[in-house]
Amino acid sequence: MAEVVIVTGGAGGLGSSVCSALAEDGLKVVVADYNGEGAQALAAKLKSEGREALGVGVDVGDKQSVEAMIQSAVDSYGQLDYQINFAGLMGRFSIADMTEEEWDRVIRVNLRGVFLCSQAAATAMRPRKQGRILNVASGRGVAGAPYSAHYSASKAGVIAFTKSMAVEVASDNILVNNICPGRTETPMARAGYTEEQWQAIKAVDPLQGGLTQKDEITGLVRYLVSDAARFITGQTFLLRTP
Ligand SMILES: NC(=O)c1ccc[n+]([C@@H]2O[C@H](COP(=O)([O-])OP(=O)(O)OC[C@H]3O[C@@H](n4cnc5c(N)ncnc54)[C@H](O)[C@@H]3O)[C@@H](O)[C@H]2O)c1
Repeated sequence: MAEVVIVTGGAGGLGSSVCSALAEDGLKVVVADYNGEGAQALAAKLKSEGREALGVGVDVGDKQSVEAMIQSAVDSYGQLDYQINFAGLMGRFSIADMTEEEWDRVIRVNLRGVFLCSQAAATAMRPRKQGRILNVASGRGVAGAPYSAHYSASKAGVIAFTKSMAVEVASDNILVNNICPGRTETPMARAGYTEEQWQAIKAVDPLQGGLTQKDEITGLVRYLVSDAARFITGQTFLLRTP
């Protein structure tokens, strides 16, 4: 039975909503985050509500740390069915002002992190000929946006990586897809805006660039882990424009 999911960035704004939704659906949820305390706190909360959950600290940019995360899931629950890669970083800089360090900081987590987590997850899934990987990109990876070119480039990389991997692992019955949230109210999206600017963003009609709601994202994730999506792979699901 398909039942074990790892969510990286699981202590974050979107990742935590997805952890709660999937735990509510009866999955065993590994909440994995650089913020290990936050991951453990969410897992404890889910357990207090009668769900199955485990909190682990991970740095998705570090291969050993990623392999330890996968091993924790397999040791605790015996298998890995779904890997959902929400861990991500953002920074607001013009290209003129962007340092190499800032470029590397974002690419390391957003792109290398997706590569390492997907690679290690597929290794755990391959022997059972079953698994699904959901990578979280962004509308900015499709359309671009000013003052975060490294972020947009990392997300464009995630989209291309996902399509490429989907073809490579199709014969192992591993499905790999992208979800691209629109701007959603989380610590990442909120950072760098004054209250006045944020209220102006929120006031825009959702279909013209206003906020994505978290339940749109959890709803899409629930669909992509469902039996109804068993033949969907290599796809990019865009939730609104950036
Ligand atoms: N919120 C939005 O508007 C929006 C829009 C499009 C895409 N996204 C993407 O959705 C994902 C989640 O974003 P969010 O809004 O929930 O942000 P968030 O900042 O609330 O959560 C991100 C989480 O990733 C974790 N993280 C950072 N570096 C890590 C590392 N090295 N290893 C493990 N975990 C690490 C953080 O601790 C945090 O809990 C990101 O990939 C983001 O790019 C968000």
